[in-house]
Amino acid sequence: MATYTVQVEPIGASVSCRDDQAVLDACLREGIWLPHACTHGTCGTCKALVLDGDVDLGDASPYALLDSERDDGCALICVATPRGDLVIEGEIDVEEGVEVHPVRDFTGTVEALDDIAPGVRRLVIALDEPLSFNPGQYVQLNMPGGDARPYSVASSPLAPSRIELHVKRSENGVCTDGWVFKDLAVGDVVTLSGPYGRFSFRPMRDKPVLLLGSGTGLAPLKSIVSHLVETGWDDHDVVLYHGVSTVAGLYDREWFEQVEATYDWFSYRPAVSREEHNGRTGRVPQLLAEDYPRAAGRVAYICGSPDMVEDTMKALMKARLFPRDIYREDFFDSADRAAGTHVVRSPLIRR
Ligand SMILES: Cc1cc2nc3c(=O)[nH]c(=O)nc-3n(C[C@H](O)[C@H](O)[C@H](O)COP(=O)(O)OP(=O)(O)OC[C@H]3O[C@@H](n4cnc5c(N)ncnc54)[C@H](O)[C@@H]3O)c2cc1C
Ligand code: FES
Repeated sequence: MATYTVQVEPIGASVSCRDDQAVLDACLREGIWLPHACTHGTCGTCKALVLDGDVDLGDASPYALLDSERDDGCALICVATPRGDLVIEGEIDVEEGVEVHPVRDFTGTVEALDDIAPGVRRLVIALDEPLSFNPGQYVQLNMPGGDARPYSVASSPLAPSRIELHVKRSENGVCTDGWVFKDLAVGDVVTLSGPYGRFSFRPMRDKPVLLLGSGTGLAPLKSIVSHLVETGWDDHDVVLYHGVSTVAGLYDREWFEQVEATYDWFSYRPAVSREEHNGRTGRVPQLLAEDYPRAAGRVAYICGSPDMVEDTMKALMKARLFPRDIYREDFFDSADRAAGTHVVRSPLIRR
């Protein structure tokens, strides 16, 4: 195994990177925050220009890194590994008020594994060391066999030694059907790394908040609400929509109803698409459009399947909320990767 030096421009910082390590991973472990979202070569967010040196482009999706971009010397640094010393040009992604937590490896023990909704399991992992993260960020859970999958942390950063994940079963999915919903058991030892992603609560955005999630897209939003409760938020209204197909999918409903009953600033709005609930039926984008014909002056956080995120984004923009006020986390999976949709092409759409 060889180790090379990666110089990151325009800041001129240098990091060491093994020849089997993704360039992004080496940077994030040194606290150099470069844009990224899926960390699996699917979305194109981490595209960077290789100014000098050779890389192995790894498992970059042909949709996220076009042939012409390959010819121009671009790489998706979440999957690209060095073949010698490198100089890359990245968009250094430091935002005032957003703490940078370097990525680290963790070992944990499965403390609880519960079915909380049809096809959804809550996984509670007691970690060997505290994980520092911003509410909304995710971890990479290593599967038996070496590969990893991203899962958003649903618990609060103020409980850093015990994290909660919400995992939805995917039919024939390697991690879910083949492991979490099959062999994984309480007491098992697991490994993971994190934190990743820039989908996290922005405390400095001084505006009312919309939290919009579908399915297990509720996970990072629950982390945000827990964090606000624990840190004594009362600045602005926070409205949470949870999209599911049937009422049985409304997991953690009692917890959110309790928060709603306790704090004036919080509202919980289930969006049930195939059954009537509280006199309404509909997906998140529909109910949102009914409730907010004008959404300007707010800040929104959307999380869930790429289709839901896209539709909700459109509903918000129609209601005059600009992309700069919208944060999104797309739960890409192998099917999205194979389909090649939802790739970042517009500079206005920032993941
Ligand atoms: C940033 C981020 C955060 C996430 N957070 C969460 C979370 O908190 N909770 C959560 O439940 N999920 C989350 N996900 C999704 C998660 O990481 C996994 O993608 C998901 O759990 C499926 O993993 P899997 O290995 O079981 O399925 P995979 O094996 O990856 O397959 C997924 C689906 O695609 C199908 N498939 C596989 N290959 C192909 C192909 N070539 N063509 C067509 N279809 C194919 C499979 O049959 C399956 O139905 C997140 C994703 C991202 C990017
Ligand atoms: S973060 Fe690299 S392609 Fe998505």
